[in-house]
Amino acid sequence: MNIVKLARPEIQALTAYDAAAQVDDTIRLNANESPLSGSVGKFRRPLNRYPEVRPQRLQAALAKRFECRADQLLVTRGSSEAIDLLIRAFCIAGVDNVLTSSPSFEMYRHFAIIQNAENIQVPTLAENDFAIDVDALINACTSNTKIIFVCSPNNPTGASLPRAELLRLLDARKSSSVVVVDEAYIEYGTESSAVDLLEQHPNLMILRTLSKALGFAGARCGAVVASADAIGMLNAVQAPYALATPVVECVEDAMQSVQLALAEQAVAGVIAERERLMAVIRDFSFVKKVWPSEANFFLIRVDNAELVMQRTAEQKVLLRDFGCSLPDCIRISVGSHQDSKRLLSALETLAEARL
Ligand SMILES: Cc1ncc(COP(=O)(O)O)c(C=O)c1O
Repeated sequence: MNIVKLARPEIQALTAYDAAAQVDDTIRLNANESPLSGSVGKFRRPLNRYPEVRPQRLQAALAKRFECRADQLLVTRGSSEAIDLLIRAFCIAGVDNVLTSSPSFEMYRHFAIIQNAENIQVPTLAENDFAIDVDALINACTSNTKIIFVCSPNNPTGASLPRAELLRLLDARKSSSVVVVDEAYIEYGTESSAVDLLEQHPNLMILRTLSKALGFAGARCGAVVASADAIGMLNAVQAPYALATPVVECVEDAMQSVQLALAEQAVAGVIAERERLMAVIRDFSFVKKVWPSEANFFLIRVDNAELVMQRTAEQKVLLRDFGCSLPDCIRISVGSHQDSKRLLSALETLAEARL
């Protein structure tokens, strides 16, 4: 089954924008650029010139990192752009729907609203540490369910979807829906990437980001990994020159092995700090529950979330209140050891006041 057949008909028929040719050692009078190479920054490709239509070296480097072929990967402006591209490419406005677990990353819903695609939310199993409920996801599908987003590890709960469960979902929706596995936090967890399932499961697509474990949130760089056919189609939807030259060059440089080794060390540090912090926080009397986490954050439930948010903010420590979907629940990102000290001292004042 070619998954492209599930996309909007006009998108299936779309061809990529015919951008001005970019050929080395030529005089470029074909793109209405300025001949003035400015003095801002020191880049291999001067900023008076458009960036590459698609950053090929970066694409190859990310494909190596994410263990796929280059033609199975599209570089995107963070995985946020990939979510938007996918929903726009597959969902007919006012007709198709997108399935998500609840709670999960809110941007799936946000981009669904922009495309006027219904978002059907399927509760996770709260009593089972918010496990993603694959049976409920399968049962909630309609004939217009084009995309199922599975965030693993899930934001904000920290729970991963076991591979056997993912396989069940992929098989159940084999020729009817795209299953998008958002692996934004995978480096912090125990499950391996689903990338090796791509050949056998053409309805699988994977989102990766450089914003978390690789420490490049400010660069806005991510990727969709999918069948070459699907990537070809998404390539036609994405704007030409989507990735700016400074971003391309700085991320290309970061893909060197030395930088990657440093990022790996940083991930190990965050995992150790997460476990230490969770153990300390669990002992505060006002903390009712600390959920296990496979990400660089964890979720807690407290007696009075408003007060915790207020007291930590007074100490200039910002947490994320999830009260609107999970009463009295707060998500804590794991920072440096120094950051944890600040957080814990703010929480200690609450413990002393016997919240
Ligand atoms: C689950 C998940 N997916 C995707 C993103 C978007 O990341 P970015 O656009 O920075 O790649 C986030 C950001 O927090 C996230 O939590």
